[in-house]
Amino acid sequence: MSGMKLGVIGLGTRLSHMVNCMREVESGLQVVAALDPDEASVRGSLPEKDAQSVRFVRTVDEMAAAGVDAIAVGTRCNLHAQYAIEVASTGLPLFLEKPVATTLEQAIALEEAFRASESNVVVSFPLRASPLCVRVKHLLEEGTVGIPQHVMAVNYVPYGDVYFNSWYRDYQVTGGLFLQKATHDFDYLAYCLRSPIVRVAAMRSCGRVYRDASLSEGESDASCAYFEHIGTPETGMNEDSSGALVEFANGVQAVYTQVFFTKRGAGRRGAVFSGYRGTLSFDWYENKASVVHHFDSFKDDYQVDSDLPHHGGDGALAENFIRVVRGEANSISSIWAGLQSVYACLAAKESAESNQFCAVRQLTNLERIEVPLS
Ligand SMILES: NC(=O)c1ccc[n+]([C@@H]2O[C@H](COP(=O)([O-])OP(=O)(O)OC[C@H]3O[C@@H](n4cnc5c(N)ncnc54)[C@H](O)[C@@H]3O)[C@@H](O)[C@H]2O)c1
Repeated sequence: MSGMKLGVIGLGTRLSHMVNCMREVESGLQVVAALDPDEASVRGSLPEKDAQSVRFVRTVDEMAAAGVDAIAVGTRCNLHAQYAIEVASTGLPLFLEKPVATTLEQAIALEEAFRASESNVVVSFPLRASPLCVRVKHLLEEGTVGIPQHVMAVNYVPYGDVYFNSWYRDYQVTGGLFLQKATHDFDYLAYCLRSPIVRVAAMRSCGRVYRDASLSEGESDASCAYFEHIGTPETGMNEDSSGALVEFANGVQAVYTQVFFTKRGAGRRGAVFSGYRGTLSFDWYENKASVVHHFDSFKDDYQVDSDLPHHGGDGALAENFIRVVRGEANSISSIWAGLQSVYACLAAKESAESNQFCAVRQLTNLERIEVPLS
């Protein structure tokens, strides 16, 4: 295939960035069709040649009829599933932003649509694609810690204001921060452990920080804009922090926690995997992993030698997508991974609401989930 014709649905901040990453891999990539109400902004974010020639369409069928080789969906969260379902019926390769769905009804419909579809999907999970995570997965598979038995995973988000002072504050669009944020973490954990999450007990804390105007007095970065339109704990709002006890199908137990009012150098994202033979810890902010061998006097350190967006994951995803479209590779981040993660996030949300352990809906086609690294 020489050149590549891409159709874009929702070419905002995120998808523009990802299309640029794709163009670095395939210089002949052209955005030939767009479905987005903000025509001016779409043209403005495209290279001049594409901006002039791109055709605006109103449906996915019209986009397919425009002769695109692949479609990318980057709308806000609540529209991902609906567009993905329409793309499924075209059989075209799809790059799909996360979360792949925001409700159980959407997720089930998406699952049905892709069981019946030939479309290959790359879900936008840069963490699992990052070199650090891939190395951690390999170390676990090599038995570095023995059989992993326990995981502690943390996400101290130093840019959490964005979930209250931008469009992300609309709970009806995001569905909360398990779906918005933990979807990545639940995904990379299941990926590294090669096992889906089956049971979750979760808690969340809302409105104690990002509604309390008194907290912001005297704070240098308090814009107060986020005190408007962020909902209430009663009507639904994004959480200040939330966490979950998680059980995987292979019996591994984990604790995951995410905090959205962290600032500056306190940011941390990563995990500690414990087995009888060793402890493996890693952190994306430090770009480092280390293994302590419980029965050996040496410690192994791994330092990632690059500083790329999403720790190199965006580039890896873009490259994989281009190779999937060319028919050269399998997806490293399939629709099944996207769905598994959403089912776990929905169970976490349900658990936080009901104060109960909740079972995670499982996919029955497990053999399709384990995709070898290309
Ligand atoms: N994978 C990641 O690491 C990552 C990182 C950031 C954002 N995201 C996800 O990317 C998505 C988009 O975020 P963003 O910040 O780019 O948002 P954005 O608002 O910048 O972009 C959304 C785009 O969708 C368009 N749009 C609105 N209504 C539409 C409709 N009915 N049909 C088609 N297009 C429509 C808008 O005009 C806009 O161009 C979110 O779901 C977010 O969760 C993922």
